[in-house]
Amino acid sequence: MDRQEQIEALLDHFRNPRNRQVIDPVDVTMPGGNPGCGDVVTIYFRATEDGGRLDAASFVGNGCTISQAAASVLMEMVNERRPPLEDILAMDYEDMVDHLGRETVNSRPRCATLALGTLKAAVRRYSRNRLRVEHGLPPEPGGEDEAEEFLV
Ligand code: FES
Repeated sequence: MDRQEQIEALLDHFRNPRNRQVIDPVDVTMPGGNPGCGDVVTIYFRATEDGGRLDAASFVGNGCTISQAAASVLMEMVNERRPPLEDILAMDYEDMVDHLGRETVNSRPRCATLALGTLKAAVRRYSRNRLRVEHGLPPEPGGEDEAEEFLV
């Protein structure tokens, strides 16, 4: 894709976001935000019954074109692939920038990776809670502040 095609693809995701909804049932609701601007993306995450893979994910949010388009691109990708949870945790922020179009989003890495950082935080919280429940403990309360600072 050339730069113009990358821009058009991002605009299409921004105007017609994929998986912009609240899934039900959901295992983890994880808010994430870019402290520099206040833009937000909340990720809804559900794992497969055996806890090994993503079963479904969705988002809602408000913010700049790149942050919201990147969330839509990411949700489309993970819902198609339904990757193992460790693969989500291993996803690289640089790959996300490449996937969106480095030329187009390179100056806005925080916008481009807001959704990925939030999805990773959701997966980590899900894994911790699964361990807690296996050991007879209640799930963690809260979790609103654990989306990581994402820097590429
Ligand atoms: Fe806020 Fe892009 S300017 S996430």
